Amino acid sequence: MLSLLGACGSDSSDSAAPLQMAARGDPLQGQRLITQFQCGSCHAIPGVPAARGVHGPSLQAFGKRSYIAGRVPNFPDALEQWLMAPASLVPDTAMPGMGVSREEARHMAAYLGQLE
Ligand code: HEC
Repeated sequence: MLSLLGACGSDSSDSAAPLQMAARGDPLQGQRLITQFQCGSCHAIPGVPAARGVHGPSLQAFGKRSYIAGRVPNFPDALEQWLMAPASLVPDTAMPGMGVSREEARHMAAYLGQLE
């Protein structure tokens, strides 16, 4: 039998994909959150006002990028994880954890994923 447990809060990577796909983030909310979190103090980000930072790499055309930080394959789940806790994927990364929640990360990943 399929599990009756809700998907909510479940982080197991083998949980049903279709539901998660439906729950993908909203790029417009992501754009707003990226502005709020001031990611632009370190990154140049197309479409985000005043995002001209140079400490981190430019996020131009990030949706076409094959790797996150040159090392982690750029899939939505990995990008969300990166936004929540970069060092959990690349321990020696220079990007700090920003206190981003899973839901916030989902929206931001949706925005970054459509940058071409
Ligand atoms: C204090 C500066 C700083 C802040 C603030 C910051 N980042 Fe970063 N970010 C970096 C650095 C440095 C890297 C490169 C990390 C590496 O290569 O290990 C990076 C890498 C990334 C990457 C991967 C880029 C690539 O070329 O592979 C993404 C996506 C990203 N950041 C998104 C964000 C978002 C979204 C925020 C806001 C929630 C944010 N960053 C806030 C410094 C920052």
